Amino acid sequence: MKITFSTKPTAVDTLVVGAFEGRKLSRSAGDMDKTCKGALTRAMKAGRFTGARDQFLDIVAPSGVTAARIVIVGLGKSGSLDSLGAQNLGGNLVAHLNRVGAKKAAVMIDKWSGASAPAVADQAANLGYGARLRGYRFDKYRTKEASNKKPTLTRLTLVVSGARAAAAGFNRFEHIADGVFMTRDLVSEPANVIYPQSLAARAKSLTKLGVTVEVLTEARMAKLGMGALLGVGQGSDRDSYMVVMRWIGAPKSSKKPPIAFVGKGVTFDTGGISIKPSGGMEDMKWDMGGAGVVIGLMTALAGRKAKVDVVGVIGLVENMPSSTAQRPGDVVTSMSGQTIEVINTDAEGRLVLADALWYCKSRFKPRIMIDLATLTGAIIVALGGYHAGLYATDDKLADQLVKAGAATGEALWRMPLGARYDNDINSDIADMKNVGKGREGGSITAAQFLKRFVGTTTWAHLDIAGVTWSKSDSATVPKGGTAFGVRLLDRLVADHYEG
Ligand code: BES
Ligand code: MN
Ligand code: ZN
Repeated sequence: MKITFSTKPTAVDTLVVGAFEGRKLSRSAGDMDKTCKGALTRAMKAGRFTGARDQFLDIVAPSGVTAARIVIVGLGKSGSLDSLGAQNLGGNLVAHLNRVGAKKAAVMIDKWSGASAPAVADQAANLGYGARLRGYRFDKYRTKEASNKKPTLTRLTLVVSGARAAAAGFNRFEHIADGVFMTRDLVSEPANVIYPQSLAARAKSLTKLGVTVEVLTEARMAKLGMGALLGVGQGSDRDSYMVVMRWIGAPKSSKKPPIAFVGKGVTFDTGGISIKPSGGMEDMKWDMGGAGVVIGLMTALAGRKAKVDVVGVIGLVENMPSSTAQRPGDVVTSMSGQTIEVINTDAEGRLVLADALWYCKSRFKPRIMIDLATLTGAIIVALGGYHAGLYATDDKLADQLVKAGAATGEALWRMPLGARYDNDINSDIADMKNVGKGREGGSITAAQFLKRFVGTTTWAHLDIAGVTWSKSDSATVPKGGTAFGVRLLDRLVADHYEG
C-alpha cells in the first residue's frame, strides 16, 4: 500500500470524510454534503452512525461525485483527537477500506483536533502512520491465497493543506514502522527459518544502516565464561551466538556513555529436559521476541539517525532436549562468576540474560540498561495481553518508561522488586537457583534473578511474554507478532536520551 500526501484529491474509487459525535460534519464533509444535495446527512439519519470515534458509514456516491464510494468516518467528540487517536483512526480506516474492497482512497483531512491538539499536518502524518502499521502482513508463506481474501487497498492519499509538512512528519514515522516490521517479521518466522545463526545474520543486515554488528561465537563466549547462556544452548545442534549492535549517533562533543538494550533470543523454547506440554508449544517460536525488539529498535533508531549512542546486545540460543542437554540440578557458572543451580531447564531465558546483561554492563558501562524478554507465563496470568510487566531499580527511569508507553499505546505496569522475593531464589548448593518457590510470584522472582546480574547499572526489565503475540487485530496491530516495545523505546529515546 502506497501512502501519499497531497493538497488536492487524486482520482480514487473512495473518498473519506470525517464527522464528529452528534452527526456534525467536518468542513470538507459539509462541502461534500452540499455537492451531494444532502445525501450524507440523510445517510447518517437513516442508520446508527453518530460520529463516535472509529465508526464508519459507506455511501454509494451519487452522480456528480467522481468517486464510486463515500465513507464517513467518526471522529468522536469535536476536538478530542490526539496523536495516538489519529494513529488508531488511520489503522481502523485501512481495515475498513480493505473490508469493503476499496482500491484507491483519499482522506479529506481538516483540522479535526482541538486548539491544543496537534496541527493538521501532524494529524495527517499520524493518520498515515497508523495506516502503515495496520497494513502489515506476514504472507510470504501463502502460495494459494484466493484473490478475494487479499487486501485490496493499494493507495491511500491523505489530502491536507500542509501536505509537505505532513510528508516530512510521516517520513520519521516510516523509519519507526520499518523497525516495527523488522521485529514482526522476525517473530513471525518459524524456528526452522530463524535459529541463532540465521537471526544473527538478520541482525548483521543492519550494517547497511550504519550499525556496527559483532557476532560472538560459542568459542568466544566460552572464553568469556558465559556458562549460563552456553548451558541453555548445549542441547541443540545449532550453535549459540551473542550479537552486539552499535549505533553511534550522538554529537561528537557528547561524552555520555551509551544507552543499552538487551534482548532474550531463544529461537525456540521446548523447555529442554523440563519439556513443555505439546499444546501451544508452537508459540515458543516467538521466544526470541525480546531480541527481535532490540533488532527492530536499532533499525528504527539508525533509520531515523537518532542523535544518541546505543548498544543492543542479544543472546541467541535454541532450548532443546537431547543427550547433550543440560539436566535439572546441573550447576553452571555465569560470566559474573556467580554459580546457578538449574532446577528447571525451562527457566532458560534468565540464564541467557544473566550473561548478556553482565557482558553488556561490564563492557559498555551504559547510562541505562533495559532488557526485554518473553520471560514468564506468570506475567501473562498477572497482566494479560494489554500491559507488559515493568521492573526497575530507578523510579525516574520507570516513570519515563510508563509515560513513553502511554504515549505510544504500548502500556506498562510496574511490578515490585524486593529482598523477600530475592530470598526465594537462594540455592542450597550454589549462589542461586533459577526458579523461585513453586509458581508464586513467578515473574517477580525471574526479575529478581536478573537483578543479580546488573550490578549498580540503572536498569529496567520488561517482561513482554503477554504482549509479544496477539491473537486478534487491534487498531494499529494486526494479529500475530506485535513488535511491542519498538515504538515505546523509540519514544523513550526521543524524549529523554537524544542530543
Ligand atoms: N518462554 C517461556 C515463557 C513464556 C510462556 C513466554 C508463554 C511466552 C508465552 C519461559 O522460558 C518459561 O518457560 N518460563 C517458565 C518459567 C518456570 C519454569 C519457572 C514459565 O513461565 O512457566
Ligand atoms: Mn522456558
Ligand atoms: Zn523461554
